[in-house]
Amino acid sequence: MDKLIELIGRELETAFERAGWDRSLGRVSMSNRPDLCEYQCNGAMAGAKLYHCAPMMIASGVVKELSESSIIGSAEAAAPGFINLKLRGEFLAEYLRRENSEERLGLDGAGKGKKIVIDYGGPNVAKPLHIGHLRSAIIGESMKRILRYNGYEVVSDVHLGDWGLQMGLIIARLQELRPELPYFDPQFTGEYPAQAPFTIGDLERIYPEASAKSKTDEAFAAKAHEATARLQRRERGYFALFRHIISVSVSDLKKNYAALGVDFDVWKGESDAQEFIPAMLDDMRSRGILRESEGAMVIDVAEESDAKEIPPCIVIKSDGASLYATTDLATLVQRERDYRPDGVLYVVDKRQEMHFIQLFRAARRAGIVRPETWLYLLGFGTMNGRDGKPFKTREGGVMRLESLISDTNEAVLARMRESGISLPEEEMKSTAALISMAAIKYGDLSNQATKDYIFDLDRFTSFEGNTGPYILYTMVRIKSILRRFRESGGDGGLAVQPARSDMEKSLQLALARANEVIENAAAEYAPHRLCQYVYEISNAFNSFYHETKILSEADEDIRSGYIALLSLTEKVLGDCIGMLGFSAPERM
Ligand code: ARG
Repeated sequence: MDKLIELIGRELETAFERAGWDRSLGRVSMSNRPDLCEYQCNGAMAGAKLYHCAPMMIASGVVKELSESSIIGSAEAAAPGFINLKLRGEFLAEYLRRENSEERLGLDGAGKGKKIVIDYGGPNVAKPLHIGHLRSAIIGESMKRILRYNGYEVVSDVHLGDWGLQMGLIIARLQELRPELPYFDPQFTGEYPAQAPFTIGDLERIYPEASAKSKTDEAFAAKAHEATARLQRRERGYFALFRHIISVSVSDLKKNYAALGVDFDVWKGESDAQEFIPAMLDDMRSRGILRESEGAMVIDVAEESDAKEIPPCIVIKSDGASLYATTDLATLVQRERDYRPDGVLYVVDKRQEMHFIQLFRAARRAGIVRPETWLYLLGFGTMNGRDGKPFKTREGGVMRLESLISDTNEAVLARMRESGISLPEEEMKSTAALISMAAIKYGDLSNQATKDYIFDLDRFTSFEGNTGPYILYTMVRIKSILRRFRESGGDGGLAVQPARSDMEKSLQLALARANEVIENAAAEYAPHRLCQYVYEISNAFNSFYHETKILSEADEDIRSGYIALLSLTEKVLGDCIGMLGFSAPERM
């Protein structure tokens, strides 16, 4: 379905042409003076330069051509040559009726036939999920949903950090604690137990212990390195332990992500990429792109146009080991083989930007991705506490995701009681859970992803202002009107009517932009655009609501037009918050 702004633009282009000027001058934009008009065209000013005449002359000529327009209800030339536009009520209402009847709010499906792999989450196995991984999960999940809504086929991959020293640390410490386990017995040839010899609680204790110990105890550090090397050689016992660590961690991670409404199609990790490394390195050698540098093998990725120095991408260390970049390159080999994606989107802390610049360039030089495949880092900023420093617990430790969610839940419950919400115990809890999710996710996503932001529980859980709970509150208000309408015997088959007030028109104009906004959010990898949009709609709706009798409107046609508008509002808001990764309760 054509975007509203395109329809208006074409109408203006035709008017310019008919008035004797170049079509291309008819570009329109949203009004920056909403008190005067809804859309505006500044083409007369550009035309004046082109044709050496007064802009007002061009503007008034164009305005005359618009007098019969079925789209433009009023056009005015305003000094020095602006063309101020308002839409015909009937045209706008008809546009909304179509939006309402089409699937996905009339989106064209910019992504149809295209496949994208999204790499997000990126938790490190055996370490508890902490706030550092929260943003990746929230932003990535939202991007996945936005892209799918736009018609892209999306494969989401959690890309576990499961292949490094942390594994060796755990295994080495486990060997100290439980030397009798068969995994450590080189003579053992039987089958290893199916059951892991530890729980997630054990793992969460063992890792920090081991990590701390390796910093003060050199012998232990050496053991951990050796264990890592033996694991990477896939020695039988070590590999069996590794499998246990993965399976225990992954089921815990799945639980945590589920609590966040985040899920992945693919649970691969760094370890799965290792098998692709030898052939990849052979291929790089035969292409002649590896260069030796101080015993290491590197790929040069600097380009002449670089403003800052981009160091070579190291693929093999001097001791022969592979590293983060090697694994990421090999992961691209696997993704190319399995999915042949049109693009790969990484949602990772922006402090890793250099790694990704090197990775993308090396992947292209090595011919791992096709020239037309795009690779993009959606790098995000840090979540800070109210003191402006990276978010910590009250005791100064790293906050665990579970605690963040339960703290938010408590704050929300307190707010609900404060504002007199009382629901049956169970519903109180489930409603608080939905509101908490909205508070956390909206609080994060409403900021441009690349910026740092302050996690402010007080502000995020407020029912007023630019917050998730405010959006839900608005939706619940709409739901309750629609419910009362149905309960009083009102029925479907309703159509949006031409607006009867400025407030109603503003709401209609906002709703008509859904397709444009959702498409831009995908093209710009910008969930915050959806946040701005749902906030704008909520404000427009609440203004309309406060000055309009809806259910008590006596005229049946007018009332049913309002109801149709409300249900479209609910649909647009519902689809948008769905893409942000949360949902609204029935009442609150
Ligand atoms: N596990 C990594 C970390 O915690 C993030 C992984 C990001 N994805 C990637 N393909 N490198 O920093």
